[in-house]
Amino acid sequence: MEVTVNLGQRSYPVLIDQGIAGTLPAIISEKFPNRRFAVVTNTTIAGYYKSLIDLWEKNLDCSLITIPDGEQYKTIDTWKSILDFLLENRFERSSVVVALGGGVVGDIAGFAAASFLRGIPYVQVPTTLLAMVDSSIGGKTAVDHPMGKNLIGAFHQPSMTLVDTNFLATLPHREFISGYAELFKYGFIGGKDTFNFILEENEAMLKRESIPLLDGIRRSIQIKANVVSEDEFETKGLRALLNFGHTFAHSIERFFNFEQVLHGEAVIWGMLCACALGEKTGTIPQEMRSAYKNILDHLPVPALPSVPDASKLYSYMFSDKKVSSGKLRFIVPTLPGQSIVKKDINEADVLSVLSSIFKAD
Ligand code: NAD
Ligand code: GLY
Repeated sequence: MEVTVNLGQRSYPVLIDQGIAGTLPAIISEKFPNRRFAVVTNTTIAGYYKSLIDLWEKNLDCSLITIPDGEQYKTIDTWKSILDFLLENRFERSSVVVALGGGVVGDIAGFAAASFLRGIPYVQVPTTLLAMVDSSIGGKTAVDHPMGKNLIGAFHQPSMTLVDTNFLATLPHREFISGYAELFKYGFIGGKDTFNFILEENEAMLKRESIPLLDGIRRSIQIKANVVSEDEFETKGLRALLNFGHTFAHSIERFFNFEQVLHGEAVIWGMLCACALGEKTGTIPQEMRSAYKNILDHLPVPALPSVPDASKLYSYMFSDKKVSSGKLRFIVPTLPGQSIVKKDINEADVLSVLSSIFKAD
């Protein structure tokens, strides 16, 4: 199956299926005949998928660049090491980068492609659920800086994204749940049909049943593709909806020093907070509250290392890069499957929500 991200001349396909990774050489040689390819991956994926990479190397004019595994390596140094390799090995403007990995590999390889010789094409092959439903679509590329996450980067759309759900078989449980948070998120912004789909297929997807999971991934990609097609550079307010739960999540991640809690785990807590804020501020109509309670009961809520302090969480929200003119921006639900961006929420309401969600037993 195929979803298109419609961006005029920069439109690109997202191919989605089980077991299609082996066909990558044929697909990209047809799209980019007579080119050199640089496959960027990390040490963990290079270990799990050695035979797949061997197959690609046999069938493509390609070199392998293996970076260390972990968000702590999503740095200018790692980005530079990729550029050094491309320059020393005389890659050219016609060359193509292939990012094989989760969001970290995708973001850093995408940023290397965005900046090498002022920009060369790249192809995303996501291997985590989070990368499949979120980071491999939309063209946000970046590295982290000691001052914060994703502070240095560029918008650079891939030329293609190839989603092979078979990669999920080796994904550790916590990483799966972290990606599932982003899939679940589309239930709050992707319309009533997606809200109901999540309710109906939640358990099957959590068991990694292939058909419902493939369907959930395809729906998520379609929603993200629609949003990106309408608001590529996040200037019209629509793309901001993809950050449902994220204002809370980023402060939770910061509270735990970006170490003990995975991004998607924080997003799960963030979605609980966003819905509580919708109730508190009245954006969720009274008669819809039971529908929200129902869907939230399906959220796989992970334990946190400790109960975070509400006032610290609130203060951390102001260092989020989404803060505009010192004003916090929250995405709050309205009706099942619909949310809006709200800028006029007062401190007392946010603190009250944080205290109600994060309380010691
Ligand atoms: P990740 O890339 O760190 O991958 C998580 C872990 O799973 C890593 O240890 C990785 O080696 C391992 N792994 C990956 N695929 C595997 C597989 N198939 N089998 C076994 N292990 C596997 O984390 P992530 O959650 O994919 O991505 C998080 C990153 O994505 C963050 O840096 C975040 O900023 C970024 N992100 C970017 C966007 C965007 O739009 N560009 C959106 C959301 C998140
Ligand atoms: N993950 C949010 C975005 O792509 O805009």
